Amino acid sequence: MENSLLITGASQLLTLGGRGPRRGDSLSNLGIINDGALLVRDGLIAAVGTRAEVEGLPEARAAEKLDLGGRVALPGFVDSHTHLIHAASRAEEYELKIAGASYEEIARKGGGILNSVKKLRAATAEALKKRAAAALKQFAAYGTTTVEAKSGYGLDVASELKILRLHKELAAEQPLEIVSTFLGAHVVPAEYRGKTGGAERYIQLIEENLLPEIGENRLAEFCDVFCDRGAFSVVEAKRILQAGRQWGLAPRLHAEQLSRTGAARLAILMRAASCDHLEHVNKSDIQALGKSETVATLLPGCDFHLGLKQYAPARALIEAGAIVSLATDYNPGTSPTLSMPMILSLACTQLRMTPAEAITAATVNAAYSLGREKSIGSLEVGKQADIAVFEVADYFGGNLCWMTVKRGRVIHAAEQV
Ligand code: NIG
Ligand code: FE
Repeated sequence: MENSLLITGASQLLTLGGRGPRRGDSLSNLGIINDGALLVRDGLIAAVGTRAEVEGLPEARAAEKLDLGGRVALPGFVDSHTHLIHAASRAEEYELKIAGASYEEIARKGGGILNSVKKLRAATAEALKKRAAAALKQFAAYGTTTVEAKSGYGLDVASELKILRLHKELAAEQPLEIVSTFLGAHVVPAEYRGKTGGAERYIQLIEENLLPEIGENRLAEFCDVFCDRGAFSVVEAKRILQAGRQWGLAPRLHAEQLSRTGAARLAILMRAASCDHLEHVNKSDIQALGKSETVATLLPGCDFHLGLKQYAPARALIEAGAIVSLATDYNPGTSPTLSMPMILSLACTQLRMTPAEAITAATVNAAYSLGREKSIGSLEVGKQADIAVFEVADYFGGNLCWMTVKRGRVIHAAEQV
């Protein structure tokens, strides 16, 4: 019995129970249990129900007890799009943007992603790991229990592998779950630019040198491509995602962020796990996403930090029936936040999603987009006990995440409990 934990005192337990990813009206169904409780065994949920129901179970009597003191508990957030490993902030570019320069202007002058590539290549694995480990503690402090992490600031064999190996090490050494994505096709690196056939030669490096090593050593589950103006074309993206698939990497895409390229259509065609950003989708893209299994992941932190007015059309996507999800896009260039509560807040104020829709998008649908719908994203029997507990009496002021639990273990506590 010593591995059993009885959690009581949730004034509201948001279970998000139910089958499949959520579309349309079902995004609003949080499966709330008032005065809810959970019985956890070996990190997995063994029972969920009202306090009376769960406390009455024989196993509950001998279990260790955790009282949430009347707070609100929900599944830990699943942050399905981050660029976790990077060497430094790009605060200097933030200032240029405030002065009027656009993200693409800065990138054309060698800033942007290439600026981060320069910094990452110069950084040691130890320094990168230390920075990422500190960030992961912060993710947990905001209620996140699973983090997808992309490579993409290395862009040469040694540096991309350095990042992906760190994903693996960090996954083993700290409590948050890390889902590794290979984003070697972030942009064409500086040393290949301006050379005849430079982009082609870089894609060959991905196909011939990077993917075999990643596939054989299982260093990533997903392959992503930044398919946009100034990065990779739809034709190139398709080729890279197909190559990734041959090594067992499922596709996902950065799509329609800066311009409409047809990347969302490609994602649907390739049955990608998700297509992310989507600020520039058109009406027919929205309809197509509504009918597909590819998750539409919205990243409002990006538009907010870049000071852009055009957010993704969340309402139209929900009305069309798309599987809408939300993520931070934590990265030093376009979205330096790792707070899912901030993203939920932006989803409500800027995307006009309701709080219930935003919570579903950040849990169940995000878990589905990472292929983890059987283990995380809702509080149901058999799933991991990944829980975020919020102090929600007063919405404003500070971080309201009171406790975070991963696989039944407390990994963040706002005060001594
Ligand atoms: O998701 N759009 C491409 N990649 C990142 C930004 C990366 C950067 O600017 O460092 C994004 O916004
Ligand atoms: Fe991104």
